[in-house]
Amino acid sequence: MRKHYPLLSTLRPLLTLRDEVNTQLLAPEVKRLWKQAIRSKHWEGVRCSLRSAQAATLRRQSIDLSQDALQATLETESGALLLKELAFALRPWRIGPYQLGNLFIDSEWRSQLKWSRIGPLIRQEPGLRVADVGCSNGYFLFKLARNNPQLALGFDPVDRCWLQFALLQSIFRLPQYGFVPAGLSALEAFPQLFDLILCMGVMYHQRDPLAAVQQLYRAARPGAQVIVESLVVDRAGTECLVPQGRYAKMRNAWNIPTADALRSFMEQAGFSGIEVHRFGPITSAEQRRTEWAPFESLEDFLDPSDPSKTIEGYPAPHSAAVVGWRA
Ligand SMILES: C[S@@+](CC[C@H](N)C(=O)[O-])C[C@H]1O[C@@H](n2cnc3c(N)ncnc32)[C@H](O)[C@@H]1O
Repeated sequence: MRKHYPLLSTLRPLLTLRDEVNTQLLAPEVKRLWKQAIRSKHWEGVRCSLRSAQAATLRRQSIDLSQDALQATLETESGALLLKELAFALRPWRIGPYQLGNLFIDSEWRSQLKWSRIGPLIRQEPGLRVADVGCSNGYFLFKLARNNPQLALGFDPVDRCWLQFALLQSIFRLPQYGFVPAGLSALEAFPQLFDLILCMGVMYHQRDPLAAVQQLYRAARPGAQVIVESLVVDRAGTECLVPQGRYAKMRNAWNIPTADALRSFMEQAGFSGIEVHRFGPITSAEQRRTEWAPFESLEDFLDPSDPSKTIEGYPAPHSAAVVGWRA
């Protein structure tokens, strides 16, 4: 087990919840991802470098998570090559950016732009239990460090996200921060536990978005704030677009809601004080191909002659967020 320490240490904050979490519900999915991340040949080199990274070479002098690119100054640049190779092996970096010592990780999404829209909507209190569901590598969770949460847990069912989070945590070392290697359905194991839940960029991947919002509700403590952000289609009404085949080349975009459909899901789930925020179209100033995410990106997903449509002819994605409170 010692050799898997960087991943194990991301689970440690869960121990503080052992009396409140239904571990029987959680265990199967965590085990599935554990096997994937620990046994897969694909990650062998990464696991080995992560251990060295955590052991010594990447001690941080200071961190500054208030910048657009989340920053760490390292005690020495002697681990710079190890860090670069490790981060490169973990590509693609979907969200970020990060400035780790001299290394700039220029992610596909310039997530500081989403943060500039969502950050001001978030309750500003210290000592909360917060969750970011679909956290990817944890950029938004790390941003929440400004409020000194009592506990901050990221949920994501993708092994690459877990390994990226483990690398970042081996540098940032925020003791109350953890990663649950499981998806939204794992929230069932965390009844009425969180004071703040972010769920961003996840809803349109759900086959049953209402059931997903109900799951968020059940994981929220009375008085909790829940923020659901999603790609939406800019239409009136409460329908979801159900694409035939792909949407913006995504195979797993099952239901693209309107902003009002998101509101309706929140109402039906029982949230009150609901606000809807419409942010307009996603642009390639925010989502683009980079050296750190060298694959197709937004400009390949939109109709080159009419960027108000996806390549398949559907309305191009906009962004919206709905904020609600559990009574
Ligand atoms: C479009 S990214 C959004 C990342 C980030 N939350 C943001 O808003 O920029 C979607 C993330 O959700 C994760 N995801 C996919 N299915 C999920 C599920 N069922 N539950 C939770 N997360 C999921 C993916 O692995 C990915 O990291």
